[in-house]
Amino acid sequence: MTAPPANAGRPPADLSVSFAGIQLKNPVLAASGTFGYGVEFEDVVHLSKLGGFVVKGLSREPMIGNPPPRLWETPAGMLNAIGLQNIGVHAFLEEKLPRLRQIKDVVVIANVFGYTREDYERTIEILNDGEGIAAYELNVSCPNTAQGGLQFGSDPRSLDEVVTTCRRVAQRPLLVKLSPNVTSIAQMAYTAQEAGADALSLINTFVAMAIDPETRKPRIANVTAGLSGPAIKPIAVRMVYDAAHAVKIPVIGMGGISTAADVIEFMLAGATAVQIGTASYWDPCATEKIVDELQEWCAEHEIKRLADLTGGMILE
Ligand SMILES: Cc1cc2nc3c(=O)[nH]c(=O)nc-3n(C[C@H](O)[C@H](O)[C@H](O)COP(=O)(O)O)c2cc1C
Repeated sequence: MTAPPANAGRPPADLSVSFAGIQLKNPVLAASGTFGYGVEFEDVVHLSKLGGFVVKGLSREPMIGNPPPRLWETPAGMLNAIGLQNIGVHAFLEEKLPRLRQIKDVVVIANVFGYTREDYERTIEILNDGEGIAAYELNVSCPNTAQGGLQFGSDPRSLDEVVTTCRRVAQRPLLVKLSPNVTSIAQMAYTAQEAGADALSLINTFVAMAIDPETRKPRIANVTAGLSGPAIKPIAVRMVYDAAHAVKIPVIGMGGISTAADVIEFMLAGATAVQIGTASYWDPCATEKIVDELQEWCAEHEIKRLADLTGGMILE
């Protein structure tokens, strides 16, 4: 005989959350760059079960990305140097967005990047014309070529300028995705808030590298790459905690999440919602499974409303 479900006789927990005026049926979003444009996962994941997804980073013009090898598995993590390969914002609007509009009841967030402030500005202006996008997420982790290669996301003044520019043109809520490659995440979080961000998402990947001792060559053709996956989770939780204490706007947490318990941990640290990235590489159904697990976790722990856990870490 099978055991009765943990919520037998009780209504299921309310998993809904909201940030920046956007309602999600649950806090689970698929992270940018790990879920294609969403449509590619249609046959694998019940997309409408997710809170939503963030599409691959979009640029003003299409980009072919870096040469291979671009991925390398590390203990409990993954290095990637995809190089922001994408079809460009025009092709996204024409080829992907019409299909995405047909998927009911799922929030679609467009991730945007550029090498100059004008790149970001123009890409957002073009996206403003597309129907069916709930918000923009700014990836500020790329080199600011107009200012000699410094990343927008690692210099408070550049961050302030790019967020101010995007806030002025964006006709939708603006999420700013912070880089962890900084000394003070609290300072960057506060800077983004003051420049007009409606919410923050963090963290992006850590700059890292690996070398093959036999060949003495780098494991990744680009030499340096971004580290993601469970290996970065404790640092990500700390950064979400620090950022959430520095700002009043909502924080969306990510970095190594692969279970419902991981989601709860990020929420207790201060996250309103979460994103799942690398876990979808190891199991393409990870996002959907985590939503199911969350419902079970709430039943087992007699949680009626998941959103009540945000910022709920107990200190004493
Ligand atoms: C293969 C790959 C591609 C990524 N591409 C993007 C991207 O285009 N834009 C972006 O903002 N973040 C990108 N990221 C970062 C993820 O969205 C996420 O912030 C990071 O991987 C940490 O979460 P995780 O440990 O759950 O993967 C990418 C990550 C991976 C692994």
